[in-house]
Amino acid sequence: MSPHPAGDATSDLALPIDDTDLADRLRRRMAEVETALHGHAASPSPFVTAAARHLLDAGGKRFRPLLVLLAAEAGTDPGHPDVVTAACVVEITHVGSLYHDDVMDEAALRRGESSANARWDNHVAILTGDWLFAKSSELTAQLGADAVAIQAATFTRLVEGQILEGVEPEGDALQHYLDVVAGKTGSLIATSARYGARFGGASPEVEEALTAYGEIVGSAFQLSDDILDVASESDESGKTPGTDLREGVPTLPVLMALASTDPADARLHELLRADLADDALHAEALDLLRKHPALEEARAYVVARAQEAKALLGVLPEGSVRQALEDFADVVAIRSA
Ligand code: IPE
Ligand code: IPE
Ligand code: MG
Ligand code: MG
Repeated sequence: MSPHPAGDATSDLALPIDDTDLADRLRRRMAEVETALHGHAASPSPFVTAAARHLLDAGGKRFRPLLVLLAAEAGTDPGHPDVVTAACVVEITHVGSLYHDDVMDEAALRRGESSANARWDNHVAILTGDWLFAKSSELTAQLGADAVAIQAATFTRLVEGQILEGVEPEGDALQHYLDVVAGKTGSLIATSARYGARFGGASPEVEEALTAYGEIVGSAFQLSDDILDVASESDESGKTPGTDLREGVPTLPVLMALASTDPADARLHELLRADLADDALHAEALDLLRKHPALEEARAYVVARAQEAKALLGVLPEGSVRQALEDFADVVAIRSA
């Protein structure tokens, strides 16, 4: 089961919010986003509709559209209809990237459901991802030429990040990894914050600050996800843990464990350099990594990034919107699913 199935106005937000007016408003608007998302994933072909709705209707945390709605609250017109359209644009782009990502990562499970590649095949998954990207472009066009330019630049960065993940680093491995993370995930979460601020009527200064905040929160979100790939159980995340390890994608805890000079880590280092397609070796590596101090070191790094993001919120007046954005950064840093 996905932690947050596609919901209605009573569904839980992926963020606890003390201000009940703000929470109610966001819940109502998230319900509008849900209805709109379902409606956008419609084709004259029942097969295409079913393939597109497969992961969209499976829910997910909806972090990106929630950030659009939350950032819009920093403006003068958070209820503007373009805010809901922008929220759909980022979620549909995200979901399209998940269809492709599961092909790249040969993942079988997504949002507690079979991935599209497992349910159908790679061709269906890739083309449905393309269909979703096309759909999000159609929607972005409704938001004007500037929004299209922003979306295109975001998508370029996202795809570059995904490509570079599979390319050997030319320089420092940690820097390469951080660049990949900023590209594949920071970019779209930064744009979520930017779109929210922009279409909610925030000042250019607030839009820039929230974009910078989103970029850091987005990277922290991916770093947390990579930690969870090591630390979590499948039923918590709706995905198969250890996928990065199996695919040989070096993530923050792995890079930190590899940097250790403790002789006791010799076996783990050997495993981390081996082909972990073998089930027994994969299980041994995952077990050693779960017990390794690198996991805590990685968590501390993410918490520090969340602090950096929160420091950018000084442009906003104190109050429940700023508080919710601070909490959003904290939830991302310490999330368990
Ligand atoms: C998964 O994103 C891919 C990453 C960028 C880590 P989410 O963790 O937001 O996935 P859903 O939308 O909740 O399924
Ligand atoms: C996904 O990265 C990033 C994008 C889809 C752009 P991951 O491969 O790390 O994400 P999960 O763990 O499959 O969700
Ligand atoms: Mg993946
Ligand atoms: Mg991936």
